[in-house]
Amino acid sequence: MRRAVCPGSFDPIHNGHLEVIARAAGLFDEVIVAVSTNIAKKYRFGLDERMDMARETLASLRGIIVEPMGEGLLAEYCRRRGVSAIVKGLRSSSDFDYELPMATMNRQLSGVETVFLPAEAHYVHLSSTLIKEVAQLGGDVSDFVPRSVLKRLQAGESPAAQSRS
Ligand code: PNS
Repeated sequence: MRRAVCPGSFDPIHNGHLEVIARAAGLFDEVIVAVSTNIAKKYRFGLDERMDMARETLASLRGIIVEPMGEGLLAEYCRRRGVSAIVKGLRSSSDFDYELPMATMNRQLSGVETVFLPAEAHYVHLSSTLIKEVAQLGGDVSDFVPRSVLKRLQAGESPAAQSRS
């Protein structure tokens, strides 16, 4: 069985992530969406909520598991879980510059290959950070995130944004 991992913070998961995960599911028998924790990072959503949003959103797709990645090395996680490929979406050449050394490092540490999937043109501008900022300032992010994420982002809108709705 060919098992791949799509690792990330997913803070929150957005439509660009979903598209890459769905394509990965077409290439591998099983895809693990591994939700990471980095103690140095400040998350908008806690681990349980990030996993809930991913699970709710991916429930209709077959062959996908959502689970915590833990705090350790991705290479070690891949070894532990019998993962043969890491799948990452690429939005731009700067994504590639950022990802290439990590892909090489992960292969040297564990033998696991990284597969890059080019993002769909209409998702190349999406990032969790930008979506959170737009939502926080009262902008409409309904085209960028699934419903389960939208309701949570709206619940956390600034009072100024809520008073305009
Ligand atoms: O969504 P993010 O925050 O960009 O995801 C980053 C992630 C989880 C893929 C990356 O931080 C990672 O691989 N973390 C595990 C720690 C690790 O293995 N570091 C060495 C990378 S070569």
